[in-house]
Amino acid sequence: MNTTFGIVGHPVTHSLSPVMHNAAIQHLGLDADYQLFDIDPQDPEALANFTYETDLNHIGGFSVTMPYKEVMMDYMDYYDPLAKAIGALNTVVNRNSELIGYNTDATGALAALKEKTELPGKKALVLGAGGAARAIAYVLRESGAEVFLYNRTEAKGQALCQALDIEWIELASIGQAAFDLIINTTPVGSHAESAESGASHSIITAEAIAPHAVVMDIITQPLETPFIHEAKKAGAIAITGERMLLHQAIGQFELWFPHAKAPVQIMEEALYAALSSTSSID
Ligand code: ATR
Repeated sequence: MNTTFGIVGHPVTHSLSPVMHNAAIQHLGLDADYQLFDIDPQDPEALANFTYETDLNHIGGFSVTMPYKEVMMDYMDYYDPLAKAIGALNTVVNRNSELIGYNTDATGALAALKEKTELPGKKALVLGAGGAARAIAYVLRESGAEVFLYNRTEAKGQALCQALDIEWIELASIGQAAFDLIINTTPVGSHAESAESGASHSIITAEAIAPHAVVMDIITQPLETPFIHEAKKAGAIAITGERMLLHQAIGQFELWFPHAKAPVQIMEEALYAALSSTSSID
């Protein structure tokens, strides 16, 4: 019997998740498909109805994107300790009509970093204090990095530092701290934020980035953000947002198909082919 998977969010039309997952499903000859589940945020019943139907229908699981990553926690029968610690999920597995929540955004970010660097003992800076910052700072700390955080609104940043037992740093001190890793989790430099503010910029510039640093931006629209540009100018190693996107999808696939090994190269080729033919990404 065909098992359906998909992405729950709003909007989902430009998501690249179907491209990666359907390529993997086809490559392995699995009896499954991956669809778009656009859930109207204006309809208070829509999410509850969807999760209820999931128990009944042949849905094996789903990805969760904006704006449901936090609220979806309430609809789970169980969640993985990492999702619980982060307070958000991006992956749901339907196991015998019980919904289990996971967070592969965090592990995907780690996998993207690990392509370029080891993590234990590294001095890492997280820019931002939203959900993505919480997830990435948490897994970096768990991986043995020494984690610092800067955020535009200091009170929010300090609160997150306290919750995670990591260090706050002032913007002016970032350069002299000579970080090994810097990760931007804010929308600064994204098409959406640039359109809103009328300008495109980076929170930190090349002078504050050590040449030995590994720098990652999780923004995917565009991939070449001003922050990535500054990192390259500094001579640092730059990791663009599609690497995390790929690795979070690999993590999802392996949760949904625990007996199949994700065909990483097939998923990667599908992602880059889609990226080269579109400017939209999720
Ligand atoms: P998510 O949950 O997706 O990570 P979020 O909760 O909206 O996103 O968090 C966005 C983060 O980016 C916040 O830390 C925000 O800073 P504030 O706490 O000061 O709002 C940061 N951010 C958003 N726009 C920014 C901007 N123009 N300059 C600097 N930081 C910005």
